[in-house]
Amino acid sequence: MNYPKRVKIVEVGPRDGLQNEKTTVDIDTKVALINRLSEAGLSTIEAGSFVSPKWVPQMAGSDQVFSQLPKHTATTYTALTPNIQGLERAIACGVREVAVFAAASESFSQKNINCSIAESIERFKPLAEKALANDLRVRGYISCVVGCPYEGTVDIESATAVANQLLGMGCYEVSLGDTVGTGTPATIELLLNRLLVDIPASKLAVHLHDTYGQALANVLRALQMGISVIDSSVAGLGGCPYAEGASGNLATEDLVYLLDGLGIDHGVDLTKLIAAGNFISQKLNRINGSKVGLARQ
Ligand code: HMG
Ligand code: MG
Repeated sequence: MNYPKRVKIVEVGPRDGLQNEKTTVDIDTKVALINRLSEAGLSTIEAGSFVSPKWVPQMAGSDQVFSQLPKHTATTYTALTPNIQGLERAIACGVREVAVFAAASESFSQKNINCSIAESIERFKPLAEKALANDLRVRGYISCVVGCPYEGTVDIESATAVANQLLGMGCYEVSLGDTVGTGTPATIELLLNRLLVDIPASKLAVHLHDTYGQALANVLRALQMGISVIDSSVAGLGGCPYAEGASGNLATEDLVYLLDGLGIDHGVDLTKLIAAGNFISQKLNRINGSKVGLARQ
């Protein structure tokens, strides 16, 4: 079986994880978590999002978080930006990489960003243009690539069309979000087989939620199909807004353990990572959502 020699992990816990936690953590705790993740060797960390604080109150302090992060470091700190207003906030904080986020399902697009898929693409075009003109890198996300909490199964042609549009506006990479975590290796394979007709594997990442316990199996399939960028969240932070008490994102500790087992390079110190996962789990007063984190208590 062919695997990539090296995988880039995009740590999304401080954003995707904390935005879904019931407990809102303070700025100092967020900054301490991000610094611990960086010290553990994670080179790309999604540190916050410049969205409406009315929509996502947990991310309200992202401006302060970014202003407190180390300025001269090899770590890339990224942020979500839904519109020009968000991009301007990101630029003011010195952010060097932003992400726009679309969906493959119409209902999810409306519920998440209050507009249709087509409207979101039109909104992102000038955002991407302005970001690139300011020398920022732009990443694209697609939510609900295989399943939607409102519509059920999602047509893979929808994700394919959105991925091509995001790359066309200048995103350097598209991260494929199994937002509800209903995907299995079979549906991920179908999706990737279609996408890889149009798009090289080097421009695709996977972002898998573990709601149904499929995330690691899905990662394995994606790795076998040449994907070498994987999003994950320390301590499996995040939960699922559509299923009370359900698991969150794929845990970074579990991903690192899998990659070690496969002999794939990733640059992360598992012991330091587990300590970071324990740190934030204690702050949130919740059980560590990583199986590896629990096994190594
Ligand atoms: P809207 O209400 O249609 O926006 O929301 P609007 O332009 O009409 O503005 C309404 C108010 O929001 C105004 O304030 C704006 O100033 C303010 P008011 O005049 O009422 O006082 N506003 C902002 N404030 C701060 N920063 C901004 C901003 N924009 C507007 N950037 C909007 C549209 C997109 C803003 C809203 O729907 C929103 O913020 N949505 C974000 C939802 C979100 O963050 N979801 C989670 C991230 S996506 C995700 O997690 C999936 C992912 O992980 C992949 C996966 O797993 O699938 C990436
Ligand atoms: Mg997510």
